[in-house]
Amino acid sequence: MDPGGAISNFRQGAFGILDGLRWSGAQRGEETVLEDGKLTINDSRTGKDYPLRIQNSSIRAIELRQIRQDPDEFGMLSYDPGYTNTASCTSRIAYIDGAKGILRYRGYPIEQLAERCSYTEVAHLLLNGELPTRHELEIWNQDVMAHSRVHENVKKFMDGFLYDAHPMGVLVSTVAALSTFYPDAKNIESRSNRKRQHVRLVSKIPTIAAYVYRKSQGYPYPEPNWDLSYSENFIHMLWNGTRREPRAEHVKILGRALDTLFILHADHEQNCSTSTMRQVASSDADPYVCVSSAAAALYGPLHGGANEAVLTMLDRIGSKHRIPEFMEKVKAGEQRLMGFGHRVYKNYDPRARIVRNVADQVFEITDRNPKIELAMELERIALEDDYFIKRKLYPNIDFYSGIIYEAMGFRPEMFTVLFAIGRVAGWLAHWEEFMADPEKRIARPRQVYTGQDKRDFVPIDERLERAQDEVL
Ligand code: SDX
Repeated sequence: MDPGGAISNFRQGAFGILDGLRWSGAQRGEETVLEDGKLTINDSRTGKDYPLRIQNSSIRAIELRQIRQDPDEFGMLSYDPGYTNTASCTSRIAYIDGAKGILRYRGYPIEQLAERCSYTEVAHLLLNGELPTRHELEIWNQDVMAHSRVHENVKKFMDGFLYDAHPMGVLVSTVAALSTFYPDAKNIESRSNRKRQHVRLVSKIPTIAAYVYRKSQGYPYPEPNWDLSYSENFIHMLWNGTRREPRAEHVKILGRALDTLFILHADHEQNCSTSTMRQVASSDADPYVCVSSAAAALYGPLHGGANEAVLTMLDRIGSKHRIPEFMEKVKAGEQRLMGFGHRVYKNYDPRARIVRNVADQVFEITDRNPKIELAMELERIALEDDYFIKRKLYPNIDFYSGIIYEAMGFRPEMFTVLFAIGRVAGWLAHWEEFMADPEKRIARPRQVYTGQDKRDFVPIDERLERAQDEVL
């Protein structure tokens, strides 16, 4: 019995009816959701049949709640650790076909966008649903560049970190701190206000990223150069006045490579960090703490931190003749082949293929990173090995990206920051879509309780000693 008693029953009933109206053909946004068919579940415990509606090849989990052995029961839940088979929302932003290795942003194949767009053009597409006209792009670029400076106190805030603080720790903290500089961002109901935060975040993240890098190298913080493109200005803020400053003719090639990498990282449907963005946004938190939370999720080595972990792995392997020994450890479950495998792609990640091509462009102006040969040999061996074939493990976007970043002059600790620069457009596009979703509700999953049944208090002198590391 739900602890909330009668009120909870009323809410369940009301939401159930409301839910039903929303989902069964009621107008949702500009489209009517049609029913694809019916799924009948037979509960062998009671012999009862339950017809569930199928729409978009899915059923509404809330309709499982009618399945009960006893009328007073709470009702059936779906149990799905890691949400491996649970849709948390509808979205029109990215489309992935994992079996075929397809990725599209707003319907456009990633291969075409990577080859023919600038990053800010794709950011506009993700945030607004359409590729910008020439005039729209000009205005958008001017807006983004005009907001690329940060408040002097943000620099002071960043100075509080140790010189060797991990760049992602600084980025996550500094983006959250921006929420104190822009209290107007709490007015999340206003579309024009939300658009102002889109611009501020897309423009300030690279500035913060560049300043994290400069601080770690002991260099002063340069001001953005508004006459440059988004990626070329990032290069300017990173290396202007330092021994790494690239030759003028190389800035264009490096800028193009970064644009492509930012595009490839820009969105990827409900990945861990993007669904974190939506989860935090569901409590009506402001966009800065939402983006900071998403960046925190990205930081993990199983997600965006994998590009840094790939370099650490390659350094540990060291040379081709040590690959067999390493692979044995992977197949024994002692190690993971970082940069391989994906929750959705059970084929080659289409972005990994494009990243591989970007590597050749970058190596034309930098020294060829010898780790690329080691990575290619690892890939060759893995793609021929039954362990990986059986589990459909292929290179993902992180397998080669770090090798390029290192060749450009970035230290591995910066790689996930570079991932975040590209992904901020996707996080904000999902925030915008969520804020406009008629089904927007605070995220509050259920649980299957497997703990102790009711028991009475035990006075301290009557409690039994337990092994310290025993966790119940
Ligand atoms: C990103 O979601 C996204 O879209 C993410 C991303 C994006 O753009 O946002 O694409 C970016 O995060 C890419 C992934 C980067 N992470 C890594 O490269 C870390 C290494 N890969 C994994 O740890 C793993 O593949 C995940 C986390 C990516 C996916 O994990 P799943 O889907 O939960 O798969 P799993 O852990 O259940 O593995 C299934 C099997 C297991 O073997 P068995 O238990 O069946 O014997 O495959 C094995 C795993 O051991 N396996 C690996 C492996 N990945 C999975 N074995 C060795 N090396 C690996 N990399």
